[in-house]
Amino acid sequence: MTYRDVYQSSLADPEKFWMSAAEAIDWTTPPSRALFDRGDNLYEWFADGLLNGCYNAVDRHVEAGRGAQAAIIHDSPMTGTKTTVTYADLQQRVAALAGTLVAQGVGKGDRVIIYMPMVPEALEAMLACARIGAIHSVVFGGFAANELAVRIDDCAPKAILAASCGLEPGRVVKYKPLLDGAIELADHKPDVCLILQRDEERAELIPGRDLDWHAAQEGVTPADCVPVEGNHPAYILYTSGTTGAPKGVVRPTAGHLVALNWTMKNIYNVDPGDVFWAASDVGWVVGHSYICYAPLVHGNTTVVFEGKPVGTPDAGTFWRVIAEHNVRSFFTAPTAIRAVKREDPKGLERRKFDLSGLRALYLAGERADPDTIEWAQDILGTPVYDHWWQTETGWTIAGNPAGLEALPVKIGSPTVAMPGYDVQILDEAGHPMPPGELGAIAVKLPLPPGTLPTLWNATERFRKSYLNAFPGYYETGDAGMIDADGYLYIMARTDDVINVAGHRLSTGAMEEVLASHPDVAECAVVGVSDQLKGQSPLGLVCLTTGVNRPHSEITAECVKLVREKIGPVAAFKNALVVDRLPKTRSGKILRATVVKIADGVDFKMPATIDDPVILDEIKTALQTIGYAQG
Ligand code: COA
Ligand code: AMP
Repeated sequence: MTYRDVYQSSLADPEKFWMSAAEAIDWTTPPSRALFDRGDNLYEWFADGLLNGCYNAVDRHVEAGRGAQAAIIHDSPMTGTKTTVTYADLQQRVAALAGTLVAQGVGKGDRVIIYMPMVPEALEAMLACARIGAIHSVVFGGFAANELAVRIDDCAPKAILAASCGLEPGRVVKYKPLLDGAIELADHKPDVCLILQRDEERAELIPGRDLDWHAAQEGVTPADCVPVEGNHPAYILYTSGTTGAPKGVVRPTAGHLVALNWTMKNIYNVDPGDVFWAASDVGWVVGHSYICYAPLVHGNTTVVFEGKPVGTPDAGTFWRVIAEHNVRSFFTAPTAIRAVKREDPKGLERRKFDLSGLRALYLAGERADPDTIEWAQDILGTPVYDHWWQTETGWTIAGNPAGLEALPVKIGSPTVAMPGYDVQILDEAGHPMPPGELGAIAVKLPLPPGTLPTLWNATERFRKSYLNAFPGYYETGDAGMIDADGYLYIMARTDDVINVAGHRLSTGAMEEVLASHPDVAECAVVGVSDQLKGQSPLGLVCLTTGVNRPHSEITAECVKLVREKIGPVAAFKNALVVDRLPKTRSGKILRATVVKIADGVDFKMPATIDDPVILDEIKTALQTIGYAQG
């Protein structure tokens, strides 16, 4: 079957298509049908089936005689260690951890926050929750205590699983003070915290609340897999929206197993037993789908890499890992490749390694610029496939189905819509646009299995954020076009979300932090172009009347405040004091115009601007800190 046949069949008869894909998953009770229309544009998949995510990711491979195969390879240039966990080891470790959670009173439907670095125990924590039907929510280690507290209050976890520290180049990130601070800030308090003590930093445990990860497991009965309904949430993953309050994306158990399993062969072109590597972090959706669940459900070996593309120790690290572990398909963010290219433009490091086992490089998380794709193609000698998706969908909306039919690559396009995604370009009134014309990218409902059915405890927000703009469609928040061959092009976000080093961040959240500074009367945060990270945040602040302190002091405080409140991951390094912000006559800040001025590119004077002179003032001010050079 060609891609076109498969795609058409998924839209023409979704029931047949997804029920057939569901046969690759082990069910305690198979679903009676695929799609459940819950009315009012809400849908669920496989809702009346019973299954267990951990069983599908671990136990079934052991039962099939593959217990001795590596499930996880942990490669940590940060600690200089490499470890392999077989499927049989993983089963035993996860069952013991799950038993410990049960002994602490955690059961089906309870939430568990996981705050951990890139160690095998992070995956074990996720799988242990899945084993007993608990709903995990992993929080990225680069977020500050305040962000962790917001998530604790939103999902009200019974337990928190954390490590004593994470390791960043040149510094040990002490997680425990961040965790203690977050619990102090939050209204909700977890009953218990399990702490994995790492050699680099041993944390003080708080008696009565904190337990040592290993000591707590002594003498407990390993837990069996608890079958859950197909629509039972496997996890909640918070992602940035327009405001400071993150959105809790809910991932339903059955849909995500069925869809992820389908992608491993059809998109990533790996067979069970092959080594697959996604160089991301368990805190992001790529980590959930492609470091943990998809490779394990499909019976692959997953690489858990604790390091950076450069500096740990050099720009050859990625190539070393691929060669040493015989990685067949490799997935990372364009920023990571740009970092390697910047350090080793001639690709000399790559020549030191035999990469003959590698079949393709997959890029996602942000726009893949043509230079980066071409450079990677040249030095690797393999295809480079851009693909486009979001935390909300959990898997590819548009990609190149290399394992089904490798379509010609058009650089600048993540290729074509994947099965179940009826992707359309709409104008402001919601009418489909002709090929080649730019508009909002929307997906006709229902979305395929594995995508979000709602937001955690926030169905109204779900509707407002995704369903109301274009009735009958899911609004992706991206703008772009489809060409005459059906290839999709992603051009920009339509909201205030920016993408820094493949990390999705909310300028609204940063503005809320800046506005809390006592000397700031008004502010705007925009995403300006960044050669390495794609975009970087820039804050413009207007001071309260009468404030007469050096501007450099105030901007340094602004930078510190964002780091303290949101975390280092915001990469907020530049703030500038300006007299006024450019606005429309109705008072809307002209952020897109500020971005163009900062980037030094041509722009059209907005017809609705209140006072055009402000743009010259802004340009002059930006030039003092190295922007607006064009
Ligand atoms: N825990 C704690 N802090 C973290 C962290 C974590 N897990 N991850 C990143 N940080 C910190 C970094 O140390 C850095 O802190 P600093 O301001 O003190 O230097 C800050 O957050 C910003 O990190 P980052 O944006 O990653 O920039 P960097 O300069 O440290 O590294 C790259 C640059 C290109 C090497 C890095 O961005 C990278 O590897 N990018 C790939 C992105 C990726 O995989 N994205 C996932 C989406 S698929
Ligand atoms: P996240 O939810 O963090 O994965 O971020 C999703 C957003 O990142 C998308 O809505 C896009 O704006 C952007 N994005 C992800 N992949 C791509 C891609 N291949 N090309 C362009 N933008 C992308």
